[in-house]
Amino acid sequence: MNRLALALLGAAFLAWSADACRECHSALDGNLGSPAKTYDADIHGRRGFSCHDCHGGDPNKAELHGPMKVRRTTVAALCARCHSNADLMHKFNPRPRVDQHTQFLTSVHGKRLAAGDEAAATCIDCHGVHGILPVKDPRSPTHPLKLPDTCSRCHSHSARMAKYKIGTGQYADYRQSVHWHALEQRGDLSAPSCASCHGNHGAAPPQVGSVTAVCGSCHVLLEQLFSKSPHQPVFSMMSEGACTICHGNHKVEKPTPAMLSGATSACVQCHEPDTKGGVAAAEMFTQSKKLSDALDRSDRRLSEARGFGMEVSEAQLKQIEAREQLVKARVAVHTFDLAEFNKPVQEGLTLAAATLQAGDEAMREKDWRRIGLGLSLITILVTIAGLRLAIRRLESNPAAPGEKG
Ligand code: HEC
Ligand code: HEC
Ligand code: HEC
Ligand code: HEC
Ligand code: HEC
Ligand code: HEC
Ligand code: HEC
Ligand code: HEC
Ligand code: HEC
Repeated sequence: MNRLALALLGAAFLAWSADACRECHSALDGNLGSPAKTYDADIHGRRGFSCHDCHGGDPNKAELHGPMKVRRTTVAALCARCHSNADLMHKFNPRPRVDQHTQFLTSVHGKRLAAGDEAAATCIDCHGVHGILPVKDPRSPTHPLKLPDTCSRCHSHSARMAKYKIGTGQYADYRQSVHWHALEQRGDLSAPSCASCHGNHGAAPPQVGSVTAVCGSCHVLLEQLFSKSPHQPVFSMMSEGACTICHGNHKVEKPTPAMLSGATSACVQCHEPDTKGGVAAAEMFTQSKKLSDALDRSDRRLSEARGFGMEVSEAQLKQIEAREQLVKARVAVHTFDLAEFNKPVQEGLTLAAATLQAGDEAMREKDWRRIGLGLSLITILVTIAGLRLAIRRLESNPAAPGEKG
């Protein structure tokens, strides 16, 4: 299309439309046309804003215009014109947040951009442009299930990140974590996505002291126990965060007792086997194994009894209670105090012994019932045999006198 044709086209559009920008751009191809074509879904379009609200210019003029390109380094300030304006935002939302830009300026992204580094994330890298959706929309790139992909466009891109000192494995690691599994497979939106730990706009690694607080914001009880443990004063001086020393940050795996013993133990990094900490670790492992073995044994016995139709529902309820003690013990690890750890273990062992006994009794009762059943069968058989014999005797015996009919 040449310039004259475009101008004519524009004039024609303006005849029936009040928004020359949208109409003229809708007729253009590629990058010039797509903004207008995707704009119908955009939250700003739906709230009555148009192209000129961000780009400037006059929407009543159906003519070609000078440069309107937005530079990456000015995007945040452009968005902030409205999003940091409480009066304006209040017209659309009774309780709007207007801190995105100020937060953003404190983030590593914001600081890098302010220093002229265009590789760092700005508003449109996370939210998109010309098709910006409400953040709660499941199709939005900021939705918890989409966010890891959004961040990984840069953070897993080794060429883009080459000039920085940080790795590019966060996404791959996170995708193997219990957190991503809970989020993706169970749809558990209380599990963390990238921004739950790093913040939406203040995206920065949690600082040393605050890593425990980040994990503790969800794992409240564990943090409370840990903060009273003998580890707290020492770990808080280390360069890593407390929880992540044992659990890692992105690749948090399902904890198992193997964390307490053997080559993959989290404790051997610091404790020799013959020190108090090393002995405690070994003992926690042994006790935990003892309890889970006892629980398995009771489980087997009870399901065996049930298989024979025995009534063991009360014992099975108790068994649930016993299993809860194992969960409590896993939590009590974080006191790093053997006596505290052993409390739920002992309670669990007592309960497991009782449920095993209930299973044994049910099995014994089953045996007695069998014997009883056998005995009555024998009695019946003997009786039948006796009757048969009596009948045969009657038949083979010629009629007794006086009974002839
Ligand atoms: C919420 C603010 C906002 C609105 C509303 C908006 N834009 Fe944009 N637009 C931007 C920003 C920011 C960029 C720079 C994007 C970049 O660097 O990738 C941009 C870039 C563009 C570009 C350049 C595309 C390219 O790839 O070179 C065009 C063309 C454009 N906008 C047209 C429009 C049209 C037409 C409308 C109305 C339908 C519109 N914009 C509405 C913020 C907006
Ligand atoms: C008559 C058609 C027409 C109208 C009306 C029009 N544009 Fe454009 N616009 C174009 C063309 C053609 C280009 C490409 C210009 C170029 O490459 O030199 C363009 C480029 C742009 C760009 C890309 C950035 C740049 O400077 O290269 C933006 C942003 C943009 N227009 C926004 C708007 C806005 C906002 C309005 C309304 C105020 C508007 N346009 C009205 C035809 C139009
Ligand atoms: C590094 C990615 C990222 C950047 C950069 C970013 N945001 Fe966000 N933004 C998010 C996430 C994630 C959410 C929250 C999504 C949710 O609540 O599910 C969010 C939420 C929002 C919201 C909804 C209200 C709120 O605060 O929760 C607005 C408005 C917003 N951002 C605007 C902006 C603006 C303006 C900028 C630039 C100054 C910006 N964002 C930069 C990721 C980002
Ligand atoms: C002209 C004013 C204006 C400009 C400029 C503007 N916005 Fe908005 N934006 C709004 C309004 C008004 C809403 C609707 C708020 C609502 O309904 O709660 C909104 C909504 C949003 C939402 C959805 C918020 C939510 O709660 O789900 C996001 C994300 C967003 N804008 C991002 C941006 C980005 C990124 C830019 C810059 C490229 C930008 N905005 C520029 C006015 C503006
Ligand atoms: C447009 C590319 C881009 C996107 C998208 C992006 N980032 Fe970044 N991010 C960067 C760059 C570049 C740096 C600067 C690296 C540095 O200075 O070490 C950075 C720095 C960071 C840092 C600080 C790292 C450090 O220790 O210095 C964190 C944390 C971070 N980003 C998290 C996120 C999260 C979470 C998201 C998604 C919500 C995200 N980023 C999206 C490019 C991006
Ligand atoms: C469960 C919390 C959590 C989640 C979820 C999480 N991070 Fe992190 N992230 C951390 C912690 C903790 C650190 C390390 C901070 C420290 O040691 O000071 C970190 C560090 C980083 C860094 C700095 C460089 C590095 O590797 O040390 C980047 C970049 C980063 N995370 C990006 C991401 C991205 C992208 C996602 C989503 C795919 C994500 N994070 C998800 C907690 C989390
Ligand atoms: C936004 C809340 C949130 C944050 C922040 C968070 N977690 Fe989680 N975490 C969860 C949820 C939800 C689960 C899934 C629980 C389940 O499996 O039922 C979980 C599971 C776990 C598990 C596995 C528990 C199990 O029994 O399988 C561990 C270990 C864990 N998180 C450690 C951490 C660490 C370490 C951090 C900090 C780096 C952290 N979490 C940050 C919510 C969070
Ligand atoms: C010194 C190492 C260490 C530290 C520090 C540590 N944990 Fe653990 N964590 C463990 C061990 C060991 C287990 C139990 C493994 C087992 O027996 O299955 C565990 C189990 C867990 C579980 C699973 C509990 C359950 O219900 O099954 C979660 C969740 C957890 N830790 C979160 C945290 C959080 C949050 C922090 C920081 C406040 C933290 N951990 C600090 C070693 C540690
Ligand atoms: C990063 C190093 C580190 C790791 C990993 C670690 N500890 Fe410790 N632990 C310490 C330090 C340092 C002390 C304090 C020693 C002291 O006060 O003598 C301590 C103290 C203890 C104590 C109290 C001992 C006493 O003297 O009262 C116990 C119990 C303990 N740790 C158990 C464990 C267990 C179990 C694990 C693995 C799940 C573990 N620790 C992992 C460094 C560590």
